[in-house]
Amino acid sequence: MFASTIENSVLDMFPQVELKGHITLVTTRSQAQKAADYLSRQPVLGFDTETKPRFSSGKMYKPALLQLSTDSRSFLIHLKKTGLPAELIAVLSDPRIVKVGAAVRDDIIGLQRYADFQAEGFVDLQEMAQEYGIVEKSVKKLAAIVLGKRVSKSQQITNWEAYPLSEAQARYAATDAYVCFRIYRELMAHQEEKKSSRQRMYEEVLEKAESLMKDETDLVANMANISALIKESFKFWWVGFYLVNEAAGQLVLGPFQGPAACTRIPQGRGVCGSSWKQRKTLIVPDVEKFPGHIACSSRSRSEIVVPLFDKEGSIKAVLDIDSEKLNTFDKTDKKYLEKLAALFKNIY
Ligand code: SME
Repeated sequence: MFASTIENSVLDMFPQVELKGHITLVTTRSQAQKAADYLSRQPVLGFDTETKPRFSSGKMYKPALLQLSTDSRSFLIHLKKTGLPAELIAVLSDPRIVKVGAAVRDDIIGLQRYADFQAEGFVDLQEMAQEYGIVEKSVKKLAAIVLGKRVSKSQQITNWEAYPLSEAQARYAATDAYVCFRIYRELMAHQEEKKSSRQRMYEEVLEKAESLMKDETDLVANMANISALIKESFKFWWVGFYLVNEAAGQLVLGPFQGPAACTRIPQGRGVCGSSWKQRKTLIVPDVEKFPGHIACSSRSRSEIVVPLFDKEGSIKAVLDIDSEKLNTFDKTDKKYLEKLAALFKNIY
């Protein structure tokens, strides 16, 4: 689908990305209102900010410019002149308007120095690209891999508080947001392939697991290998097993891959204890919204837990997988992880 990495040396060989749309400079509150009127009607906006470069440590400048782009229009909002008006805050906190950028967290923190607002609907290309197997993080490299285009970085360290901006600065700033819009759209157009590539990976994992477990009946050895196989293939944050201890009414930590974790979980507690009690797979898109979730690591944001049944239908263990990203798991993961869990039936 897409290359996972790209060499610096080939980046200059791609044709430069061309900003097609019109650039609107926004320097007054009424222009900001008009811009927000257009922006609030868009489903997706490319997003970026520019801050005057800081050459000595200590002083942190507020962002000078907020760029929001669609395919046909780019707005350069001179925050030093307009501040962050309520109409624009509404756009930045509307979960239905996707704002797509790279490393958006830093830009958002910068903007929040103008006004304390709740950022909603932001998509970070760096995280999104990862789901497509792309390892690179810079917009320059993402543009090369996803669009086959070159983005110039020559204006990166100019003075963004200058007014008026030079033509080159305006074009550079608008292109940065515009290219994020384009990368997002291209990645979305390949969503189906992304899904099927995950399926393919699960099929490979399943095949390897079957061959690893074919002649091995030791539970610890098999659990250790299966955790490693899943962790290596998908790079999830934590993958491991908790074994049922009926007498204690607890799950006890078994073989796993990832950071050290909680050792004992009572039945009915947390996602693992609930999966055991409810005798079914639980998918948790956002662990903070799961009542009683046990946070072994603050990095875990979504989770799936699959029970392992023996031939008589008793639960002997659960397979727990944690992700650093929200909404990682869906019915594809459930389907294949339940198949993996079923391999253990013959061992008990
Ligand atoms: N989050 C789990 C606990 C296990 S760790 O994630 C490894 C739970 O709520 O059961």
